[in-house]
Amino acid sequence: MRVIKVGSYDQMSRTAANIIAAQIIMKPDSVLGLATGSSPIGTYKRLIEMNKSGDLDFSGITTVNLDEYCGLSGSHDQSYRYFMNTNLFDHINIKKENTHVPDGVAADYDEECRRYDKLIEELGGIDLQLLGIGHNGHIGFNEPDEVFEKYTHVMDLKQSTIDANSRFFAKKEDVPMQAITMGIKTIMSAKKILLIASGADKKEILERALYGPITPNVPASVLQLHPDLTVVCSVD
Ligand code: GLP
Repeated sequence: MRVIKVGSYDQMSRTAANIIAAQIIMKPDSVLGLATGSSPIGTYKRLIEMNKSGDLDFSGITTVNLDEYCGLSGSHDQSYRYFMNTNLFDHINIKKENTHVPDGVAADYDEECRRYDKLIEELGGIDLQLLGIGHNGHIGFNEPDEVFEKYTHVMDLKQSTIDANSRFFAKKEDVPMQAITMGIKTIMSAKKILLIASGADKKEILERALYGPITPNVPASVLQLHPDLTVVCSVD
């Protein structure tokens, strides 16, 4: 595990973007696993700048996102598909058909989960997975649990997660209570993982995740077992 401590959200974003840029330059047909939330927004902004200045080419890149809310279609402004389009995909030269997010309005969620796992397998797995971390240690939407769920599945969101995400919705009742998320095995199968965290409020959970016991009660703690984990953080 490599832990890169930086002094600000902006520095975290620049460093993370540089790591992703290096991946794209070294392997222009990379499969990138992407994340949502406030943590990666600055990273995406920086990647857009690099693309616009001609330093980074996304034309051969494929992306798979970690998760999506159940019940929200891609056109809903709080869906993760919409987030990815507006915060990254609409501004870079990626082929939209090569960007993948679980379908939050699939008729059959179990089938959608299997389809998503099969898709990742057919793509040859994820080269670099970007992750944020929730206050309770969740990654993607793998919430604290008794077991590590291996594959893509539907998760009942914890009340604390629903509360944290309610800031983006007009009414609390509108916040989805379930999400489709990649499982722990899928995330851990990525060749490289890049975890970003920023803010004093993430300090304690980040320490528990990186140095505490490995337990499904702190899903991110499993990352300690990954052979190529880089953490870029600004939590002091
Ligand atoms: C959501 C997402 C996670 C993200 C987490 C933290 O629950 N599903 O992928 O890491 O929020 O978000 P933030 O970066 O806004 O703190």
